[in-house]
Amino acid sequence: MSAVIQTKRVTVPEIRAHKNAKPVVCLTCYHAHTARLLDAHVDLMLVGDSLGNVMHGLESTVPVTLDMMIMAGKAVMRGSKHALVVVDMPFGSYEESPQIAFRNAAHVMKETGCQAVKMEGGTRIADQIRFLSERGIPVMGHIGLTPQMFNVIGGFKTQGRTESEWPAIEADAKAVAEAGAFAVVLEGMAEPLAAKITREIAIPTIGIGASVECDGQILVLEDMLGLNPNPPKFVRQYAQMGGQIEAAVKAYAKDVRERAFPGAENVYQMKKAG
Ligand code: KIV
Repeated sequence: MSAVIQTKRVTVPEIRAHKNAKPVVCLTCYHAHTARLLDAHVDLMLVGDSLGNVMHGLESTVPVTLDMMIMAGKAVMRGSKHALVVVDMPFGSYEESPQIAFRNAAHVMKETGCQAVKMEGGTRIADQIRFLSERGIPVMGHIGLTPQMFNVIGGFKTQGRTESEWPAIEADAKAVAEAGAFAVVLEGMAEPLAAKITREIAIPTIGIGASVECDGQILVLEDMLGLNPNPPKFVRQYAQMGGQIEAAVKAYAKDVRERAFPGAENVYQMKKAG
């Protein structure tokens, strides 16, 4: 019998090498148990600030803090040993200046041991991406629908629906790539625009509600597992775990109420015998 022992994590250059090659498999992840389950099957795990919505029931990602990201980043690092782990920089931790972005991103990397960070924005944060990349912090970009702009956009709207919007979004993609990002998430973007950007830039594009032509795809794990009662329309659900969890909890509640709970019974008998 042979067991595959993973000794080394996927690296940033290995992700970059996926451009125009094998699609990059990415999922979000916020805790150790799911990290362990995902680890052998994905190239990249994103500790996304979507944990604000998924784990904390927040309406937007705006209230998410650095400490929340660090706690989840540590858990995902403990639960994995193969995939590249990227931690999202939360709203307010990087926009102000390249120096502040570097200080906070270095703190995240030292505390969690993750290999890279992600920041939302194109031309407006190109200086931050360059500053960090040149000083040892790999950055993944994120353009198109950027949920941290929730209050400015007024919701979660697909970007690039009309061709007049395209030049600004293409400029964002080019700015992120030229500043040194190793990959870029294209979120909630009109399909032909996402495909066009994928052809135009030299780094892998990772799509979410964008295009199958992207160099990789990412989904929020809980959305594709069927745990979100209102998932985005584009999400393909690979399991219906919400229903399974409810059925399991219902069966457990029945056992407890009928005093048919074997675990408790055994412990009681063991104590009596001892
Ligand atoms: O926070 C997140 O989960 C993300 C992905 C949706 C790309 O940014």
